[in-house]
Amino acid sequence: MCGIFGYIGHRNASKLLVKGLLRLEYRGYDSSGVVVKNGQLQSYKDIGKISEMASSLPRMKGSMGIAHTRWATHGGVTQDNAHPHLSNDGKVAIVHNGILQNSDTLRKRLVKLGVKLNSETDSEIFCHYIAMELDRGKEPLEALQNVLALTRGTWGLCVLFEDYDFVLCARNGSPLIIGRGKDEMFISSDPHAIREHTDQLVALEDGQIAKLNSLDFQVMQTDGKEVKSNLLDLEEDWGESELGDYPHFMLKEIHEQSQSLQHCISGRLRHAEGTSVLGGLQIRPQELAQLPHVRLIGCGTALHAAQIGQILIEQWARIPAVSHVASEFNANDPVINPKALHLAISQSGETADTLSAVKEIQRKGADVYGVVNVVGSSIARQCGKGVYIHSGPEQSVASTKAFTNMVGALALFALQLGRSRHLSKTKGKSITREMRMLPDKIRSYLENPGSIDEAVELVTKAKSVLFLGRGISSPVASEGALKLMEIAYIPCLAYPAGEMKHGPIALIEQDYPVVVIAPNDGVQDRTLNAIHECKARGAKIILIHEEGDPISEVGDVCISIPSTIPMLTPLLSVLPTQLIAYHAALALENDVDRPRNLAKSVTVE
Ligand code: F6R
Repeated sequence: MCGIFGYIGHRNASKLLVKGLLRLEYRGYDSSGVVVKNGQLQSYKDIGKISEMASSLPRMKGSMGIAHTRWATHGGVTQDNAHPHLSNDGKVAIVHNGILQNSDTLRKRLVKLGVKLNSETDSEIFCHYIAMELDRGKEPLEALQNVLALTRGTWGLCVLFEDYDFVLCARNGSPLIIGRGKDEMFISSDPHAIREHTDQLVALEDGQIAKLNSLDFQVMQTDGKEVKSNLLDLEEDWGESELGDYPHFMLKEIHEQSQSLQHCISGRLRHAEGTSVLGGLQIRPQELAQLPHVRLIGCGTALHAAQIGQILIEQWARIPAVSHVASEFNANDPVINPKALHLAISQSGETADTLSAVKEIQRKGADVYGVVNVVGSSIARQCGKGVYIHSGPEQSVASTKAFTNMVGALALFALQLGRSRHLSKTKGKSITREMRMLPDKIRSYLENPGSIDEAVELVTKAKSVLFLGRGISSPVASEGALKLMEIAYIPCLAYPAGEMKHGPIALIEQDYPVVVIAPNDGVQDRTLNAIHECKARGAKIILIHEEGDPISEVGDVCISIPSTIPMLTPLLSVLPTQLIAYHAALALENDVDRPRNLAKSVTVE
């Protein structure tokens, strides 16, 4: 959600800045801009995709600059509201990620002082207050410190000055990474955007400021006290993902699921013992014996994975488990039991709501384990322990392969937990056997995905679509609905199949599409009741079922998936829902990889 990139060195800054922004486009893409110091501060910004802004970027000669890609919070999507923002004398430029809570007060104060405001954003106040401090004779660092003392909220902030050959950065709640190259420095809100230039990375912590020139940087607390910063260990090379022969990243990532799940489970399954080993989730037997419950938190797709994890943990480990919407978690002053196990699920590792819930749990004395994709991300670092799900880079805004790997990692964990308690070796072995076969089953389904086109025809004509599932398929229904809604812009509702008759049934009319996830899982007969109730009212049933299952007789459009054990069906039943969403978005001529109003990484609460 908003991305920052900065460069100080000897090469052409504007080219590197644009390249950096393109890497950060997943964080927001409604407008973007760059400012470069070339004697004066030269800035350019525009609305629309980064490539559009870059194509009209004037020639900029300097070798020091900062840049931003925006996801609007305060103020609409306009050129004025795009970053960078410059002080009226043109001597201070800023780019900012985060939200200032007291910006209204600070803006009013500026207006009273006769300062002309050029945008509707909260961020703009930074450049004006800093410029005023400089006018009062303060040095840049002190000016920034004084302004930060006035503000309340979150920031990843970079400041460029016309009269000084350094950049100042500050972090509070919004990530900023510094990369040291050879006689050059990089700044980014995402470590992986700098990785092609250097692996010497340092993450600023909340409450820190950094001062950078091309040769060196210093990190200090807000009060100016210098602190030692440690190099960030990214463990694995994230690399850059190319589209290859695929038209969109989403389709590519859907097809990568077989391989990425293999990556997640390989080396972690112990078939002979019917268990799994997740190095980062080793819990002492004594703690395990006293474990009162497990809580899983996440947002969006990660929440749906958490809901599946909850069921797996209860089923296999027989420990009470509950999943929580991360954005609601702190709202009701939750009671935290320090003996309980807490898991934070996140692809990006930057979701502000999840990060804030992690901090609340830690503040109340409990540990949180991260189940995260992006190595070295804020949630991974804040938790300090946990597992990586190893999906590799996920570039489409709509999450697909991260979902399967979150569920895969949670299944491994539930198995490990279960085997260390009462789950029998025989049952454990049947689970490991099935898990090992899943990558092949995913591949085989994707090679022959069934009647996706017929399903797409039904959903793209509909005013809204209802998704139903029962038990472990209920979160899959939610995930399918989220995916279709976010990229095809079709209103979707997901309900546990049994709840359908308590309200959503009112939506059903002739030819209304209902997507039903109905694997042969022991609760299918009751899902069948819901199907009949929908059909009796004229609904068209898009049925996702296991191959060879006679339930297919009740479907109007039937999509068959390979069979597996009931608890692992989400890893297969989610696939057709992803394809339906993808092809529906395509049929409606939407931007599949960059759906409107969304961002891949939601770094504001
Ligand atoms: C949906 C989607 C979002 C994310 C959510 C959490 O396709 O991508 O709902 O799942 O914003 O993001 P992470 O997993 O990065 O915490």
